[in-house]
Amino acid sequence: HRDVRQKVQLAIAQAFGISASSLYLTKPTFFSRINSTEARTAHDEYWHAHVDKVTYGSFDYTSLLYLSDYLDDFGGGRFVFMEEGANKTVEPRAGRVSFFTSGSENLHRVERVHWGTRYAVTIAFTCNPDHSIADPAFT
Ligand SMILES: *[C@@H]1O[C@H](CO)[C@@H](O)[C@H](O)[C@H]1NC(C)=O
Ligand SMILES: *[C@@H]1O[C@H](CO)[C@@H](O)[C@H](O)[C@H]1NC(C)=O
Repeated sequence: HRDVRQKVQLAIAQAFGISASSLYLTKPTFFSRINSTEARTAHDEYWHAHVDKVTYGSFDYTSLLYLSDYLDDFGGGRFVFMEEGANKTVEPRAGRVSFFTSGSENLHRVERVHWGTRYAVTIAFTCNPDHSIADPAFT
């Protein structure tokens, strides 16, 4: 997780022309496993359009690392940036990373997964050191 976090942190810094040392890992950082089973709580309803900054508070930059392939491992489940007149879609592919600023400029949703299982890792960064967390330890 730390190695991936470091690579993504550098890529975001480079892409946005900021210093990697001004980015801090923030919470929550999580694996997601989505299949077609009905959501049990509103928190599980990933397909609603949302803004990460609103949902998660401390996020300034959101990244997603996909661990399975759209159409090979699952159907549906594409990531959609919702823009007036022109939605932009990211097709998950194992090893593909996407990242974006977490504010209202990047309203998005994930299509419902119709079959199979979609795996991804969310790693987000804050510019506020008070909101930083240590790399997670897995036991
Ligand atoms: C989806 O995943 C849950 C949790 O692992 C499992 O209980 C359920 O049977 C799965 N549903 C399908 C359709 O594979
Ligand atoms: C964008 O996606 C939203 C939600 O899925 C949909 O209602 C809308 O029609 C789409 N707009 C375009 C231009 O595809």
